[in-house]
Amino acid sequence: MKTAFVSIVKVIRLSSWGLKNRLSSMIRPETGRSVMLACDHGYFMGPTHRLEVPRKTIEPLIRYAEALAVTRGVLRTSVDPKWQTPIILRVSGGTSVLREDLSDEGLTVSMTDAVRLNVSAVALSIFVGTDHEKQTLLNLGKLVDDGEEMGIPVMAITAVGKELEKRDARYLSLSCRVAAEIGAHVVKTYYCDDFHKVAESCPVPLVVAGGPKLKSEADAFELTYNALKEGAVGVDMGRNIWQNDHPVAMIKAIRSIVHENCTVKEAIEIYNENKSMHSVENSITA
Ligand code: 5RP
Repeated sequence: MKTAFVSIVKVIRLSSWGLKNRLSSMIRPETGRSVMLACDHGYFMGPTHRLEVPRKTIEPLIRYAEALAVTRGVLRTSVDPKWQTPIILRVSGGTSVLREDLSDEGLTVSMTDAVRLNVSAVALSIFVGTDHEKQTLLNLGKLVDDGEEMGIPVMAITAVGKELEKRDARYLSLSCRVAAEIGAHVVKTYYCDDFHKVAESCPVPLVVAGGPKLKSEADAFELTYNALKEGAVGVDMGRNIWQNDHPVAMIKAIRSIVHENCTVKEAIEIYNENKSMHSVENSITA
């Protein structure tokens, strides 16, 4: 039996038709939910394991995603312009994993180029509570101003750099709320214990990242199920999908939770039924 999902309806009062139209192309109006495929890790992590050749990772999965998150470089080189999936363009950067502090980010793409690339949204990281808090929040303010002018929604990502232990409800509630107050149209954050507190105090739609690959598929399904139940509108997930040996089976199972309210047990069944569809041999380790 399927458990009833808690429904937290968030209506954003948007002035621009273009902005609303782009948002509704990424968050399915029928379900109010979304499976976004995150493939933007290379902008600071370089050739991440199983994202070494982005097109090979993206091509089998893109048809199962409401939106694809990539950088400008991957968009130009590895995404066919004939594909119809909406693009969330990563527009912040300036650091790499070789540095201890990943928070020193600026904007790396102009809104003019984002419009030229015909993207559906732009995304940037904010680093609340770090030495570069102010700079990344001002980046967000500037991007929202430019996005409102051009009709492009802005997704703020509550990044924690290497400090993964920061991801608790107190910190994430603060970060998500700050992002929404500055004007982000969507916020991407992490799932955590008491996630409902994060969702309830954030007045714009929230999606959750998967984070580093979890121990089992069931753990990723549980994260997704709980995040949705507690108020997220979907996932923007990368490594737990494409670092899995069966990425198509994985994304189909995640979709079943997000769009069909499937349970974790049902998602495991869907994963097992679809395992033969596309599998990846172990390749380069990064
Ligand atoms: C990279 C990102 C990723 O898009 C985000 O972390 C989601 O991917 P994953 O599910 O692998 O964590 O923001 O900087």
